[in-house]
Amino acid sequence: MTSTDQTTGTKKVCVIGGTGNLASILIDRLLQSGYEVNTTVRDPENEKKMAVLRVLQEQGDLNIFKADLTDEGSFNSPVSGCEYVFHVATPISFTSQDPEKDMINPAIQGVINVLKSCLNSNSVKRVIYTSSAAAVSINNLSGPGLVMTEENWSDIDFLRKEKPFNWAYPISKVLAEKAAYQFAQENNIDLVTVVPALIAGNTLIDDPPPSSLSLSMSLITRKHDFFFFE
Ligand SMILES: NC(=O)c1ccc[n+]([C@@H]2O[C@H](COP(=O)([O-])OP(=O)(O)OC[C@H]3O[C@@H](n4cnc5c(N)ncnc54)[C@H](OP(=O)(O)O)[C@@H]3O)[C@@H](O)[C@H]2O)c1
Repeated sequence: MTSTDQTTGTKKVCVIGGTGNLASILIDRLLQSGYEVNTTVRDPENEKKMAVLRVLQEQGDLNIFKADLTDEGSFNSPVSGCEYVFHVATPISFTSQDPEKDMINPAIQGVINVLKSCLNSNSVKRVIYTSSAAAVSINNLSGPGLVMTEENWSDIDFLRKEKPFNWAYPISKVLAEKAAYQFAQENNIDLVTVVPALIAGNTLIDDPPPSSLSLSMSLITRKHDFFFFE
């Protein structure tokens, strides 16, 4: 399996979780840069969520696959033949009664499932995993000039004990990133992570608008519900 189309020279990449805000922007940029893009969605029948990808399909070579983070093997076809894989999907459920089951476990299982498929592909050269500032910054470090590095992680014991709003999300990001690095190291996979803070700015999704965009605008829109949203 080759990662570059030998006739056109086009490189193929995969974006996991194409219906997401960041993923759709990434796909747009990749298509504009001439990449062939495979992307995965959980529910291809959900036309409302698929709308953004239908528009992007008109702009370039975009192939859509059905895959779920909890379904081992479902990423084999989407990553096959790809040179780079961007794992952008993350399970988010602010109203979950069982965040371990709905957010933490699928995040960890999901990144391992994606990496296993990359390992099997024989084409993937690098995996780019989207972590979060939430995986780094929720701890008791403070003070002027503080710089957080790869050594710093959010405090899982504190999060599990105090359960601040949306506590399971930072835990899911810490444990998934750590699991990803361990698996990558054990299997000689080239893995890098990116650590965004709040994702604001332009979006291709407006119905409903991404929650991080609503949060970033909340002081202007006066939508008080978002003031305490982390
Ligand atoms: N937004 C921010 O401010 C922010 C800040 C820091 C880091 N990040 C990170 O950046 C990445 C993208 O964030 P975003 O705001 O663009 O997220 P988003 O819009 O909420 O998109 C999340 C994506 O993950 C998919 N997903 C959820 N559970 C899944 C599962 N079990 N199997 C397969 N796909 C699943 C969703 O699919 P469905 O459409 O089917 O639900 C959706 O496509 C995430 O990793 C997030 O942790 C975001």
